[in-house]
Amino acid sequence: MTDLYDSEQWHRFDLGHPGGEAMTESLLARSGLKKGSRILDLCCGTGDSVALLYTLGMSAFGVDRDSVILRAQEKHEAISGDSWHGWQGDTGEPLPFDDHYFDAALCECSLSLLKDRATVLAEVRRVLKQEGLFLLSDVCEGEAFQLDGFERLEWRDERQALKNFAIRWIWETGQKFPDSERGKDYFSAVYRAIGPA
Ligand SMILES: C[S@@+](CC[C@H](N)C(=O)[O-])C[C@H]1O[C@@H](n2cnc3c(N)ncnc32)[C@H](O)[C@@H]1O
Repeated sequence: MTDLYDSEQWHRFDLGHPGGEAMTESLLARSGLKKGSRILDLCCGTGDSVALLYTLGMSAFGVDRDSVILRAQEKHEAISGDSWHGWQGDTGEPLPFDDHYFDAALCECSLSLLKDRATVLAEVRRVLKQEGLFLLSDVCEGEAFQLDGFERLEWRDERQALKNFAIRWIWETGQKFPDSERGKDYFSAVYRAIGPA
């Protein structure tokens, strides 16, 4: 796991993911999720998307590494502590939720950081309801990921959002944008869980 996302430099930058709130809102609109939906934010960072989901009338739960989840709690004091859970995605640790608990999961700019993606995806499917939705944005090479156990319903090329993010990083930090082995492209996509969870 890169320590970039736990560094002071990253948290001072504090823009979360390429496309920001507008990309999260676009994914939600394209998914058709309604007010009252229960959503998991996998690798929620400092919790801005969890906060946005609450303002849109959804119930949201964020998981991330312990050190990062503490920052999310500090930043969003008004959101109940029950909404935040420490979780280490590289150890095979199960997600701390019952089976079929969520209508949807959101994962922004994070899935590609997780080494054991197959185990994590199996966990996401376990906590999703039948045909639950998975809303994803991430760095890629070429087109949006194909994921075992999920049908990709639609996707968008978001390369421009990644370029804008890198420009903003250079402008605000005065540093070179960190190299990513994850790819040079970026996408947002809506998936649906298929088959038995
Ligand atoms: C680019 S940040 C995105 C954060 C958030 N999704 C957002 O859009 O603001 C990537 C996040 O993935 C988390 N992450 C990376 N590897 C992880 C792991 N093995 N277990 C849990 N979280 C992890 C980092 O702590 C970081 O918060």
